Amino acid sequence: MVDVEIGGQHVHGAHPSILNVINQRKNIKEKLSGIKHRIGVYSAKGGVGKTTVAVNLAYTLSGMGYKVGLLDADIDTPNVMIFLGLNKTMEANYPLHPIDNRGVKVISTGLYVDDDKRPIIWRGPMVGKMIREFFENTEWGELDYLILDLAPGTSDSPLSIMQLLEMDGFILVTTPQRIAATNAIRSGMMAKRLGVATLGVVENMSDGKATGAEHVAKALGCDVIGTVKLNKKFDEYSDAGEIPALRDNEIKEEFISIISRLSIPKKQ
Ligand SMILES: Nc1ncnc2c1ncn2[C@@H]1O[C@H](COP(=O)(O)OP(=O)(O)OP(=O)(O)O)[C@@H](O)[C@H]1O
Ligand SMILES: [Mg+2]
Repeated sequence: MVDVEIGGQHVHGAHPSILNVINQRKNIKEKLSGIKHRIGVYSAKGGVGKTTVAVNLAYTLSGMGYKVGLLDADIDTPNVMIFLGLNKTMEANYPLHPIDNRGVKVISTGLYVDDDKRPIIWRGPMVGKMIREFFENTEWGELDYLILDLAPGTSDSPLSIMQLLEMDGFILVTTPQRIAATNAIRSGMMAKRLGVATLGVVENMSDGKATGAEHVAKALGCDVIGTVKLNKKFDEYSDAGEIPALRDNEIKEEFISIISRLSIPKKQ
């Protein structure tokens, strides 16, 4: 057993295999050194709007003049591709080059699967390996922000990301429902244990009151950074491969407001 520092925390009596993870983390840090900020969009609960928030956040930041990358870290259900209306198949030759979509650099397992209805079925270790390969082999170049759209749950995919990537932190997405809040709190607690900060809570499909998000923020000791109202235009735009925040001023303002309240801790 070994004693190690991970995510700024001292871990006593860890399994020696942790040393591999620490080495991988160091390599990935060097590989992604051209990226100023790495922000995950996360919740353990499915369907709360993680992909919606990640996509609209990325394109709003890009519209504000930042250089932005969008990583679809939902390896087996790569929905970013669907939201962007992309059905492009590429050869998975290393190094991987993100595609430029309306000014945002995008990478997704969906880019390498020739049939968007074919199931992508991988066991846990393969998911972790794929995520590591994305981090180690993608040529992002210089970016101001890399936005990561995470899979739901608290196991393989989010866990690998938290272990391998030094992040500024997560934006947690919740909805007004109690079940979403409970799972968002669970997600924030998991991130905290792995040394990843929660940058703020967004209430999606909101009535504008943010009661659910306030409950989550209070439990985790962070702030509510915005609400996105329940709005049927989200489905209309994404069915058409359009980015809601680029098409609709009210939605755009919601994301500009979230960005204005997103405070990213200074690097030590
Ligand atoms: N504010 C909103 N108003 C109305 N519909 C929304 C809103 N946000 C998201 N949706 C819709 O809800 C559905 C789920 O959203 P999304 O795929 O972003 O959730 P998710 O958390 O990423 O799901 P998963 O856990 O499966 O990855 C989509 O059809 C999306 O268009
Ligand atoms: Mg999603």
